[in-house]
Amino acid sequence: MDIWDSREFDDHEQVCVFTDEEVGLRCIVAIHSTKLGPACGGTRFKPYHTDLHALEDALRLSRAMSYKSALAGLPVGGGKSVIIGDPGAIKSRELLHSYGRFINRIGQTFATGEDVGMSVADVETIAEVSPYMAGISANSGDPSIPTAIGVIHGLRAVAKWKFGQDGFRNMRVAVQGLGAVGWGVAKQLHAEGAELTVADVREDVVAAAVTEFGAKAVSPSDIHRMDVDLYVPCALGGVVTERSALEICAKAVAGAANNQLASSRAGEILAERGILFGPDYVLNAGGIISGMPALNTIPGHEKAKVLPLDQSLAAIYDRLLQIFGRAEAAGKTPEAAAEEMAREIIGHKA
Ligand code: NAI
Repeated sequence: MDIWDSREFDDHEQVCVFTDEEVGLRCIVAIHSTKLGPACGGTRFKPYHTDLHALEDALRLSRAMSYKSALAGLPVGGGKSVIIGDPGAIKSRELLHSYGRFINRIGQTFATGEDVGMSVADVETIAEVSPYMAGISANSGDPSIPTAIGVIHGLRAVAKWKFGQDGFRNMRVAVQGLGAVGWGVAKQLHAEGAELTVADVREDVVAAAVTEFGAKAVSPSDIHRMDVDLYVPCALGGVVTERSALEICAKAVAGAANNQLASSRAGEILAERGILFGPDYVLNAGGIISGMPALNTIPGHEKAKVLPLDQSLAAIYDRLLQIFGRAEAAGKTPEAAAEEMAREIIGHKA
């Protein structure tokens, strides 16, 4: 495995590989940047095809954390950890404790918490041996509420830039996924006069949206094809593929789901078709923004002071307008403009 030649390597400051054969632990921690402050990013626990795939995931996700925090104006850097294996088969109290002791050895440059394959209870178990755990019930609340508020600020910027409209009155919006974030987003859109079309694999939440918001229900496989003004992905990542980008009828795509663009080419297709894309890690930064007070309780992260929560969330509106302006002026996609802006803030070379 050659780290420096990996296509995802981006002058990462530190990459650590940990093994504890006795408990079956194999993990990789990647710290992309601590230029703005100690690194922060979740722990992902999943099987990977190869160790190289695990490494690439850690490298890519830690870089994305740097970008997300930088564009949210937070004094934290980007890191990410992956534990390799099927959590259902190998996760144990002993493994989680061993992992926590490894995180302690990295010291004050990295704080971590939940991600795919990890629950709040798992993070609390690790916290029994490690002070570097964020997102435990003792020190933070439900991030989905501020995430939904941040997404709404971002959608306001999209409405302003694309349609010259303040708010969502009479706007036709397709919301994909009515979970913790998507439901909050749909509720606010409805309150501000949007006409909703919704899809979810759960029939109960779809039925509730039809009753409470007067929403039109469509199949999950058709939601991206709806003839609407805004398509708001709030379920899975990778929903904008090179194929679906050609099928999308909305005039703008922006929402909560992480990594909506399956490839940068998919983003280019949207741009070529005149469809505005709001980079997801700018819109969905509310979770990490709201986690800052909890992060302040972690050793090494005490100085991470930020604006009050409502101001930080509202700043997503201005940041997104800056990104759209820059993209238009430079003839780039919003995704490329956001990345460029984040790298300037971090001081990372292009
Ligand atoms: P959730 O698990 O509460 O909700 C996801 C919803 O999508 C569920 O209702 C699920 O039934 C539905 N869904 C799953 N597959 C679907 C499909 N094929 N078509 C339509 N609906 C489908 O998750 P949550 O917390 O609402 O997060 C949504 C997205 O936002 C995820 O991509 C997550 O990574 C991202 N995000 C969430 C944050 C948070 O604070 N919860 C923070 C940043 C990003």
